[in-house]
Amino acid sequence: MAEEGVTVAGPFRLGLPAVIVHGGAGGWKGLRSEEEVVSAVRRAAEAAQGLNNAFDAVVEAIRVMEDSGVLNAGLGSVVNYEGEVEMDAGLMAGDLRVAGGVAAVRYPRNPIVLAAWVARNLPHVILAGPAADRLAERLGLPRHPGPQERMLKRWREMMRLINEGELDRLPGHAAAIARLYGGDTVGAAAVWPGGEAAAGTSTGGIMMKHPGRVGDSPVPGAGFYAENGVGACAATGIGETILLARPCIYAVELLREGVPVAAAAEAAVARHTRLMGGDNLGVILVSADGYAAAAMNTEAMPVAAAGPESRLAALLRRGGKIK
Ligand code: GLY
Repeated sequence: MAEEGVTVAGPFRLGLPAVIVHGGAGGWKGLRSEEEVVSAVRRAAEAAQGLNNAFDAVVEAIRVMEDSGVLNAGLGSVVNYEGEVEMDAGLMAGDLRVAGGVAAVRYPRNPIVLAAWVARNLPHVILAGPAADRLAERLGLPRHPGPQERMLKRWREMMRLINEGELDRLPGHAAAIARLYGGDTVGAAAVWPGGEAAAGTSTGGIMMKHPGRVGDSPVPGAGFYAENGVGACAATGIGETILLARPCIYAVELLREGVPVAAAAEAAVARHTRLMGGDNLGVILVSADGYAAAAMNTEAMPVAAAGPESRLAALLRRGGKIK
């Protein structure tokens, strides 16, 4: 029996290599096409299967979702209070040696590719702002084309409401209202034969956020966590709550203690709900033996998974199941 307010899907027996991805927990109100969104996560999980290791699989899965234009990351990123795209992304390998994140970047079309470069090449974990953008340009990474028209339309509508006094005029507070719409963040978690694990996330953050605001997505333990021989987790939701409660490290620690994957995902979301309230978190979790699960306390979250023994893709809805 699921904990009150927590929707759980799984366990899914995928076999190894195992990949699970999500396209963002949230309200998913005004969804133009469920098929478009489900297709984006399905393509991501399947593309990742073709890679040689868990780390590259996570990069590829997230790159595909960033390029889809229908999820809140990369091309489909929401905009901040000034109507500009500002993205965060991060990932780590389960050896706890290779991790990279980028925060509040505007230049790269694929922030996850820049984060992977940081992880592999720099003795730092997180790079932020204009210096990270200059690095992306120097590396010759493709440039982000700027906000989609549908995001600018939402932004203009919200600015109108703010100007008419119907919404709080402070950037972060307007974000609290904007977050009720759409989805949030993309993420991937993977385990390869032999136990190699990796996880990562990428996001445009929260609509109407304060310029310069950084969420959980580039931060290991919060937005993602992986440990070889144990498993990997990626989170989505309200970054401020995820930074403070760090559900991904909690979920992977439960796996290490022997808790089955669906129970661990559910417990991580239930704990988060107790600490932070509801409507703020989704997680995906994969264990070293090739089982995966998803859990959330929001209205919906697109999820896809792929392995040699099964594959699936669906929009998980509150109280629902993925068949
Ligand atoms: N979880 C993404 C964010 O809050 O920025």
